[in-house]
Amino acid sequence: MVKKAPCTLVTGGAGFIGSHLCERLIDEGHQVICIDNLITGRRENLAAITDHPRFTFIEADVTKGINIEGSLDYVLHLASPASPADFATLPIQILKVGALGTHNALGIAKAKGAVMLLASTSEVYGDPLEHPQTEEYRGNVNPIGIRGAYDESKRFAEAITMAYHRIHGLKVRIARIFNTFGPRMRLNDGRVIPNFMVQALTGKSLTLYGDGSQTRSFCYISDMVEGLLRLLESDYHLPINIGNPLEMTIRELGELIWKILGKKPKYTTKKMPPDDPARRKPDITKAREILCWEPKIELEAGLKETLDYFRERLQE
Ligand SMILES: NC(=O)c1ccc[n+]([C@@H]2O[C@H](COP(=O)([O-])OP(=O)(O)OC[C@H]3O[C@@H](n4cnc5c(N)ncnc54)[C@H](O)[C@@H]3O)[C@@H](O)[C@H]2O)c1
Repeated sequence: MVKKAPCTLVTGGAGFIGSHLCERLIDEGHQVICIDNLITGRRENLAAITDHPRFTFIEADVTKGINIEGSLDYVLHLASPASPADFATLPIQILKVGALGTHNALGIAKAKGAVMLLASTSEVYGDPLEHPQTEEYRGNVNPIGIRGAYDESKRFAEAITMAYHRIHGLKVRIARIFNTFGPRMRLNDGRVIPNFMVQALTGKSLTLYGDGSQTRSFCYISDMVEGLLRLLESDYHLPINIGNPLEMTIRELGELIWKILGKKPKYTTKKMPPDDPARRKPDITKAREILCWEPKIELEAGLKETLDYFRERLQE
């Protein structure tokens, strides 16, 4: 008997992480339905699979309801603007997709008996007072600050996801995604890697906020997709950190980008934005033990791939 392809809904599938995930799911033999309203995503991100017979694209806003005919095995809810630039311009859309969009994604998962994966974030830890961040840390979030819309939308999304698990027995997975980078990030994304790359490739100085001593840890996109799929296939229903524990300062990141490009470093400085986390580093003990996952791609190799992508995009 021929085994039926698993049917998987990806919300936010035209975005950076979502489009890589859709491609990988197609490679793994899934039937993939992507819903995206293109508020921060691009149809071009899906160019490689748009015409694939197992792929369907629906342009729609998930806050307005999700209607899918037929069966679904998995719902991967990634829809949400996610960059700091969006926090200032799209706070209401972010709150709506975190609340109403997540509610609708859970509703369709429950109706179809599907497993629901929520793309949560390290931002649920806010500006952390514990370091590195384990899943048990409850966070230090300013609900009314500039980042509050995003942080609280994801904290609500986690809460309602756990409520569906407890009340309806829904199979849920909650990925706390830490900074991820790679091709298909937006040129004007506002996150540090696209910012630095576009600045360095166009002959400008890199903008450091404060003295550049704040830390981040960066996970390459293929590692992230692998981590998300392992989580999906696990039976672990509590939040789990997925990210790269290699911590570096923003200035060190800048130095590495200049080194790869073989150019002399130049920087300008600006005031630190409010509530910007000073340190960010995942404790991935759980991901290692439960998912047998850890990042494999060297930072420099990932940065080179990403630079190639931005170089091409800048020539369009
Ligand atoms: N990239 C990261 O470093 C990172 C870190 C932590 C968490 N995440 C989470 O991962 C997910 C994907 O992030 P990304 O970096 O790919 O961002 P992205 O902006 O590239 O992708 C998000 C996608 O969701 C779509 N979308 C937004 N609101 C929608 C709505 N109401 N209806 C339908 N589609 C909608 C956008 O058009 C976009 O295609 C997000 O939920 C984000 O919070 C990302």
